Amino acid sequence: MPSAQLTLDPHFQVGAVNRRLFGSFVEHLGRCVYDGIYEPGHTSADEEGFRTDVIELVRELGVSAIRYPGGNFVSGFRWEDGVGPRNERPTRLDLAWHSTESNQVGLDEFAGWLEKVGSELMYAVNLGTRGVQEALDVLEYANIRSGTALSDARIKNGRPEPHRITMWCLGNEMDGPWQLGHRNAEDYGKIASQTAKAMRQLDPDLELVVCGSSNANMPTFGSWEHTVLLHTYDDVDYISCHVYYEELDGDAASFLAVATNMDHFIESVVATADTVRAQLNRKKRINISFDEWNVWYNTRFHAVEQITDIEQWPTAPRLLEDSYSVIDAVVVGNLLISLLKHADRVTSASLAQLVNVIAPIMTEPGGPAWRQTTFFPFAITSRLAVGTALEVKLTSDSYTTKAYGEVPLVDAVATWDEATGRTAIFLVNRSTDAATTVTVDVSHLGDVALLETHTLADDDIYAANTLTDRERVGVAENTSAQVSGGTLSIELPAVSWTAISLG
Ligand code: AHR
Repeated sequence: MPSAQLTLDPHFQVGAVNRRLFGSFVEHLGRCVYDGIYEPGHTSADEEGFRTDVIELVRELGVSAIRYPGGNFVSGFRWEDGVGPRNERPTRLDLAWHSTESNQVGLDEFAGWLEKVGSELMYAVNLGTRGVQEALDVLEYANIRSGTALSDARIKNGRPEPHRITMWCLGNEMDGPWQLGHRNAEDYGKIASQTAKAMRQLDPDLELVVCGSSNANMPTFGSWEHTVLLHTYDDVDYISCHVYYEELDGDAASFLAVATNMDHFIESVVATADTVRAQLNRKKRINISFDEWNVWYNTRFHAVEQITDIEQWPTAPRLLEDSYSVIDAVVVGNLLISLLKHADRVTSASLAQLVNVIAPIMTEPGGPAWRQTTFFPFAITSRLAVGTALEVKLTSDSYTTKAYGEVPLVDAVATWDEATGRTAIFLVNRSTDAATTVTVDVSHLGDVALLETHTLADDDIYAANTLTDRERVGVAENTSAQVSGGTLSIELPAVSWTAISLG
């Protein structure tokens, strides 16, 4: 049987686990908002039209900050269309997704929904078709208490308290030729710097995210980050990373190894940010907001450009509704391990997206809401990964992949919470055909016992939870786990994700 060994020691600290690592993303895209979080006619809808069954699942998922309202959508969005009396809001064409936007949910409703789910709002401004003035306007509307035209408009719209949004994204994927208002790095760097400076003139304590590359395969990857940060280094706190992975050509072995690619991506962006830091001779460090990441079967997605008749652009169409399997959940669990391994520099992240659109939660109009397979690793990691991320000094048998060469069979990270003395370990077994034995030296943690074990695995790695079989896949206790004489041993099934809590 293949094997792996880890050593846990509270001295091997990577960095504090920021709660914002467990963020998500709600875009006006497909059925994420309409017929997702918002369905006024649904039996579970509250007085504001939000589905309470979805609210409960979002709470259970343990989501911290939620990025809104896009995504590609934001680059053509006029924020003021979504506020004020609903019957006066304009219907608009959404050029990004060839859909019709009713604007029945906007900033005020979404901020109210976030209060119900207990999450923070992370707001993206439109730097595609708009600029500095509109960014200042939405900031004034959202954050100024009262006594100005826009703050008083918010009060008149029934929101007496400011939304107090701290984190703001300066546009979305502005390096992508598909983006409305796409710019080169020089031009984007300049408008991002001007917008950031203006927003800070209003509130110096905002946390600002400048757009990095749309993914690490963009032809401008690396030079984009370098040029943009030369323009904005003093103005922003974060640079964004986005990535989506999928299993291609039935190559499960490579798909299971994609977190090695995420590791490399993060380390490359950190290196670039630190290069600019050295070049400019600055003390401050720029951290990463990994504000779009997930499994997305993008190659199965039929481009929305096929919907050509503008009068036929649908409202809340079924777009990007991937059904996730066991192997997808193992990969999502591994991507969370990658984020935690870099907790010193990745201090915010958003699983893209939250409901129906490449999402851990699915809904049926007039019907139930359910957990996709990817829900489980996210919810359990969010609950157990508390305190400080620890490097685990891993040695593991390896295997060879077409896409990434030789990679370890096991990947792992741990967190240690000084306040409670609890340790959590997160592991994946990437082997497609063999269980793997893992032994963990826990002697440096003192006298510890097992509190919880959860393993996600299945004989059918393509099993999924669907409308007609909503609880087909879940997590189970891993009864092979034992702690004895300062050593934890556990068997990880082939293609599996596991979390262990010790205390
Ligand atoms: O999450 C789906 C889309 O992926 C977002 O709108 C865009 O930012 C990214 O390309």
